[in-house]
Amino acid sequence: MTILKANHLSHRFDYPLFSEVSLSLATSESLAIIGVSGSGKSTLLHILSTLLEPKSGEVELFGNDIYTLKSSELIALRRHDIGLIYQAHYLLKGFSARENLEVASILSGEGIDEVLLQRLGIHHVLEQKVTELSGGQQQRISIARVLTKKPRLIFADEPTGNLDAQTAEEVMHIFYDYVQEYESAMVLVTHDEDLAFACDAVYRLENQQLVKVK
Ligand SMILES: Nc1ncnc2c1ncn2[C@@H]1O[C@H](COP(=O)(O)OP(=O)(O)OP(=O)(O)O)[C@@H](O)[C@H]1O
Ligand SMILES: [Mg+2]
Repeated sequence: MTILKANHLSHRFDYPLFSEVSLSLATSESLAIIGVSGSGKSTLLHILSTLLEPKSGEVELFGNDIYTLKSSELIALRRHDIGLIYQAHYLLKGFSARENLEVASILSGEGIDEVLLQRLGIHHVLEQKVTELSGGQQQRISIARVLTKKPRLIFADEPTGNLDAQTAEEVMHIFYDYVQEYESAMVLVTHDEDLAFACDAVYRLENQQLVKVK
């Protein structure tokens, strides 16, 4: 089943970023976007994930043309179906790690997965305030928070940017396993070509075009 379909996307800020970008993603698939800093990867991810309307083109998620949906429909889609992991993670700072996960659990109606927390290596820091955790621990809490929702589609922008190479690989395997186990799908933005090429498809954003390289 096709989960995401982008048709002829173009976007510009002060200057053109990219044009005629098209891609599609099916259930249980992962797709990586690579490209030099400033090429527009995060912008493209924002467009694909409901956060930014493109200058032209359409994005379909689960068969819906998302920029024609009512805002209540868009909010429901974001809350239940989409998992967003940003380059900068937005945890609730005054709260403990566990409280951050509880918020996601309550909003989505899904339980907290203790096995996932073990696998992420964060089960022993859950009672600590988020501000007391290292950058890499915060990043893993934000990943746990997103996966707690059991999203049908994950958008991840440099999700392992704060992690050492070995932890990064372990964390990416959690994503790949999640996508298979829950018949979800993932769009990953990364600078790490090894992590990118572990995905089913790889695209490079260069010279304002999105080129398929795997
Ligand atoms: N809201 C905005 N308003 C104006 N310009 C923007 C905005 N967001 C991004 N840009 C510009 O668009 C270009 C692409 O930014 P983007 O964040 O998409 O790049 P990127 O490929 O994700 O880079 P990086 O690898 O460093 O994260 C940059 O030149 C940036 O300054
Ligand atoms: Mg970026």
